[in-house]
Amino acid sequence: MAIERMVEPNLAPDDKEEEQVEKTLRPISFDEYIGQEHLKNNLKLAIDAVKKRGKGAVLDHVLLYGPPGLGKTTMAGVIAHELGSSLRVTSGPAIERAGDLASILTNLKEGDVLFIDEIHRLRRSVEEILYSAMEDYKLDIVIGKGPAARSMRLDLPKITIIGATTRTGALAGPLRDRFGIVHRLEYYKEPEIEQIISRTSRILGTEIKPEALELLASRSRLTPRIANRIFRRVRDYADVNGDGIVDKVVAEKALDLMEIDYLGLDPADRNMLSLMWENYGEKPVGLTTIAALTGDEASTIEDFYEPYLLQMGLLARTPKGRVITEKGRKHLQKT
Ligand SMILES: Nc1ncnc2c1ncn2[C@@H]1O[C@H](COP(=O)(O)OP(=O)(O)O)[C@@H](O)[C@H]1O
Ligand SMILES: [Mg+2]
Repeated sequence: MAIERMVEPNLAPDDKEEEQVEKTLRPISFDEYIGQEHLKNNLKLAIDAVKKRGKGAVLDHVLLYGPPGLGKTTMAGVIAHELGSSLRVTSGPAIERAGDLASILTNLKEGDVLFIDEIHRLRRSVEEILYSAMEDYKLDIVIGKGPAARSMRLDLPKITIIGATTRTGALAGPLRDRFGIVHRLEYYKEPEIEQIISRTSRILGTEIKPEALELLASRSRLTPRIANRIFRRVRDYADVNGDGIVDKVVAEKALDLMEIDYLGLDPADRNMLSLMWENYGEKPVGLTTIAALTGDEASTIEDFYEPYLLQMGLLARTPKGRVITEKGRKHLQKT
């Protein structure tokens, strides 16, 4: 199985401490949410319009997609906050039966926001309930069994569904079509990551020097979750080995310890690239073959490793598979 990764963009499922820290770091309003300007401007406009229309108006359903750690869950909270609505959070895999979703939906109030994380992992039968709920605010249910069964249509409160997914490709067409607002979250720019780390250091009460800030931002995979995680590790290092202040020397040493290179790649990324290079050279390699080489699930490669490597131009996608680019090759030689 894959090694535990420092740059893993997902939350470790059993890391309660990280979950707790993430909560304290999570921006709650548009003003605190750094970057993603295009997305914010569009949402602000839509939310202002809803407020202007007044009573009975609700925000269109919103689908947010993009690699893990870029701020989808955070944005769902921000939207609810800016609407002045209550937020209910669930996820695709957590809703086991159609009845579970029905009971969530009937317990919501008009104007509430329901956030469904990993919406691409909803079961088929559950998804079908969602169609009419999203389109007409109706709940279609079947009562009884066999010949006596009859179907009923119940009214639901008008609510906003926010879905999040790492891939829209995995979402059924009819479901995707029911979202009025569909947005991809982009990787952040380095100065934005600097702002995010700076904000985190303020909240956690740790001083960080400008050169250290720049260095950490350049190694954080342009991803807020990773930036925060690396910052916390560097801060631990500064507490143990220094005076608690994060300067460039401390940052460099801690990054070395974590084996994060100057592009933010960790040993697992480099391992994947070099396995591809050693075994296939310039030939394209299929996803399942890469997965077999590294011992990961194909979906792990697709969702977690690959997006950043593609973004950085180290890897390219072709119809026949993934290939290492010139830049990727050079990077391997350097590290
Ligand atoms: N735009 C942002 N500004 C500041 N911090 C952010 C931003 N987006 C994400 N974060 C931080 O990164 C963490 C991970 O974000 P999250 O919303 O959970 O990502 P996702 O749901 O896309 O995997 C959050 O806890 C938050 O502290
Ligand atoms: Mg999330």
